[in-house]
Amino acid sequence: MQRVLSVVGARPQFVKLAPVAAEAARRGVEHVIVHTGQHYDPMLSDVFFADLGIPDPDVHLEVGSGGHGEQTGAMLARMDGVITDYDPDWVLVYGDTNSTLAGALSAVKLHRRVAHLEAGLRSYNRRMPEEHNRVMTDHAADLLLAPTEVAMAHLATEGLAERSVLVGDVMTDVLLKVRSELADPAAVTARLGLVPGEYSVATIHRAENTDDPRRLAAVVAALQRVDHPVVLLAHPRLRARAAQHGLDLHGGSLTTRDPLAYPDLVAAVDAARGVVTDSGGLQKEAFLLRTPCTTVRTETEWTETVELGWNVLVEPGPELAAAASRDQPPATDAAPYGTGDAAARTLDALAGVSG
Ligand code: UD1
Repeated sequence: MQRVLSVVGARPQFVKLAPVAAEAARRGVEHVIVHTGQHYDPMLSDVFFADLGIPDPDVHLEVGSGGHGEQTGAMLARMDGVITDYDPDWVLVYGDTNSTLAGALSAVKLHRRVAHLEAGLRSYNRRMPEEHNRVMTDHAADLLLAPTEVAMAHLATEGLAERSVLVGDVMTDVLLKVRSELADPAAVTARLGLVPGEYSVATIHRAENTDDPRRLAAVVAALQRVDHPVVLLAHPRLRARAAQHGLDLHGGSLTTRDPLAYPDLVAAVDAARGVVTDSGGLQKEAFLLRTPCTTVRTETEWTETVELGWNVLVEPGPELAAAASRDQPPATDAAPYGTGDAAARTLDALAGVSG
């Protein structure tokens, strides 16, 4: 029997972990979960374990927040002992956060095999911490589990084709399952005080948008000028930076509330007329739910959403407010992110390579 050790730490990684943990349990694969503690607020962490039926972490490194070097270094220092103790066949890392890089680096230095789930994504924007994390993780890893054909092509360009396998996107697995199990979606919009089809959901949390006071002010001003209600689900990083810059998030069409639990987010996005975001995951979730997305970034890793007409990239300003009000694009049945079997293909790939 195999032993797989998953390293997670930030909100989107818990979402990706859910279908992998369920599939490992179904197959009787021993699965060790290490939580780095990068995200520690209950609404960014514990609720995902509870709502998505993920077993409690076996190990919690409790690193908390800090600068990139401080945070990544603290994880690295604590990971070594964990990997040595559990002696896994595979260390599985997810996405592009500091927790991803720390897990990969620690494993490769201890000569343990590393698999990177969501490999091959590129923004080619070297100002993004996520871009450093994903490039370095891909080049350190032994097995690259890519979500899309585009990601496979990036890996081939970097000479990594032999280590790459297309497995699809595990976020599709979890989204389809959660949507099919939503007990009462109308109750979610009612609880949020929203009228289905008449509001947009917004999230802004990336350093590029939050850390420059002028850019953040421009994003907020544009959201306040959208011609229909916008509910901004405020990540703690956004609240912290807005307070630091003396910026009031409320006003005009804009109201804020705390981040939502995953099933509530799915219900809220499904019933929305649009999404405005700088999150990678939410761009895809909007596409899978066929809700038009407006992305406040200069590039996206999820180029399929743009090519299929369901996502547009904008700068903060009048362009943003106009894009948020645009009509639905033509329907599509394209499935660039797979059909919900990516976790199974991930476990197949781990079993195949280990023989
Ligand atoms: C991290 C990831 C990003 C991912 C995002 C998802 C990196 C470099 N970035 O960004 O790729 O899209 O998670 O949410 O790994 N904070 C809290 N409570 C928490 C966690 C954070 O208040 O539970 C606040 C702190 O002020 C902290 C700030 O948010 O300094 C930033 O947190 P951090 O983990 O550094 O990065 P994120 O912005 O969450």
